[in-house]
Amino acid sequence: MCGIVGYVGLKPVADILVDGLEQLEYRGYDSSGIAVKTDSKIAVYKAEGKLQNLKDVLRAHTSEITTATMGIGHIRWATHGAPTVVNAHPHTCNCGSLVIVHNGIIENYKELKEKMEKLGCVFKSQTDTETVAHLIAHKYAQTKDLTKAVSLAAQEIEGAYALCVMHNDLKNTLVVTKRNAPLVIGVGEGEYFVASDVPAIIKHTKKAIYLNDNQIATLTPDSLKLINSNGEELSPKVEVLPWEPVALSKMGYKHFMLKEIHEQPDVIRNILFGKLHTPAEPIILDEVKLTQKDLKDLNRIQIVACGTSLHAAMVGKYLIEQFCNIPVDVEASSEYIYRHTVTDEHTLVVGVSQSGETADTITAIKQSQARGSHILIITNRPDSAMARLADSLIPVNAGIEVSVAATKSYIAQLISFYLLALYLAEAKGSLDKSALESFKAEMMLLPQKVEQVLGTTDDIQRCARVYSSTKDFIYIARGINYPTALEGALKLKEISYINATGYPAGELKHGPIAMLDETMPVLSILMNGSVYEKLLSNSEEAKARNARMIALTNSKDKKVEELFDNIIRVPDVQELFSPVIAMIPLQLLAYYIAEFLGKDVDQPRNLAKSVTVE
Ligand code: F6R
Repeated sequence: MCGIVGYVGLKPVADILVDGLEQLEYRGYDSSGIAVKTDSKIAVYKAEGKLQNLKDVLRAHTSEITTATMGIGHIRWATHGAPTVVNAHPHTCNCGSLVIVHNGIIENYKELKEKMEKLGCVFKSQTDTETVAHLIAHKYAQTKDLTKAVSLAAQEIEGAYALCVMHNDLKNTLVVTKRNAPLVIGVGEGEYFVASDVPAIIKHTKKAIYLNDNQIATLTPDSLKLINSNGEELSPKVEVLPWEPVALSKMGYKHFMLKEIHEQPDVIRNILFGKLHTPAEPIILDEVKLTQKDLKDLNRIQIVACGTSLHAAMVGKYLIEQFCNIPVDVEASSEYIYRHTVTDEHTLVVGVSQSGETADTITAIKQSQARGSHILIITNRPDSAMARLADSLIPVNAGIEVSVAATKSYIAQLISFYLLALYLAEAKGSLDKSALESFKAEMMLLPQKVEQVLGTTDDIQRCARVYSSTKDFIYIARGINYPTALEGALKLKEISYINATGYPAGELKHGPIAMLDETMPVLSILMNGSVYEKLLSNSEEAKARNARMIALTNSKDKKVEELFDNIIRVPDVQELFSPVIAMIPLQLLAYYIAEFLGKDVDQPRNLAKSVTVE
């Protein structure tokens, strides 16, 4: 959940580090710090709060750091210890000669801390990371070899880590290693970059090496030595990164979130490209490696995911059951991994994750993989740890999503599920030709319909103004749009801090209806189709309790105007595709309310974009 960066080369390092941290701010933003090697010492600078505070600190020390050409940096999302300067990374050993930055969690830090205290180490922070600084320093004192010291320390550490280490004895050497946390090394001309994620290095180089777990790389400006945990030398595999730096600009939008919402028509086009040519042709999913035998033997699908990805998975369940008649379970990865789950070689396990880094989902996938299930990953990061575990992959191609609240990646995940469900239906012959063609034709119209929604946002902005002062918000829906209600409520909670809850409308009268009075907004996702009349009755029940009624609808029904105080209209669409069309106004409603309230839309409090701790 934190971000780490490192640089060794010939250029002034401070700006490279800070710029890298800026690109990683989505991973956490409660404190930050850098350490640079100056002629005489290792200088450490830290600040609480946003990265701007670190920039202010550095401005006061420009003369000390301009000549430094090696350093490490960190942006934190606190797990152990409050977000204070003392707890901010880099952390040092007692004498300050060894510094480290760390992303992950050291699970046995209490035992290690006791051990290091007995050896005379004095701890300054409450973090788990500081134990590792002392431990590596201790090993270095014994070996006088930083790579060896990191390797010996790694043998004693339990948990997840990406580490970047430097020592004052070594003018030009960084040592990096990782286990169950991401780390990429950028390869430049006479320089190396280290980062938790590609955005921090893409400006400088497109050549990169993804470290595997337990590998250790020792970097100098003109050399890279890679070893495994046994000390055996390995040849690094240099890959060419597919990212473009321009993707990280706001392109004139006030926030990344708004830009990303507006990118959604093109995101849908991108994902459909090459996979769906015409309604008459079969869906092509090149990286889905299920054989005819796998498909024949398949008796169950289990989908694991967290947060927004979990909501996409719930829509996926609905589609696969409807199109393919295969039973599908969906579960939050964090629940799945701590109970006796039943999967075997006849279960297809689908992991859904924007980042491909979510620790709970990775653990769930590893557990099912160990039981012989085929693993299919739907992710926006085909270069991620999760994608590397996959037997089959659907890359969602949404482009880098900077805003912490997921928007375009959600829509891309939905489209992936439509493609997967139709692909499975074709392979199993569970839908007739005309149904298949009609679904595919509707899917091809989605980009235009989303554009239509984005073209007229006046009703949504009006609603945002009317309801921005509410403390609570209820979203109701039925059937395939129940997950839309959950996701709409999650978006609002995340960025405006309004207490919003999504309910299946039929459940309202089993308890939540007690909450309704003239202060409570109830937003009904009232899309034409099989549950329209039922949802209309549920909305009437809410109206009868004086709730403030909002409809998100594609219905022309007169009753809608009589029943609802505010109406957000969307284009007509087949019911099964309505989760795509209904979600766009809900993203915008959350955005405009948060913006109206002056919240930090792209970096809401307490959140981070990649949740790499269980
Ligand atoms: C909400 C949001 C989170 C993520 C969740 C899982 O806007 O972004 O709820 O969906 O943390 O993350 P991924 O999809 O990266 O596994």
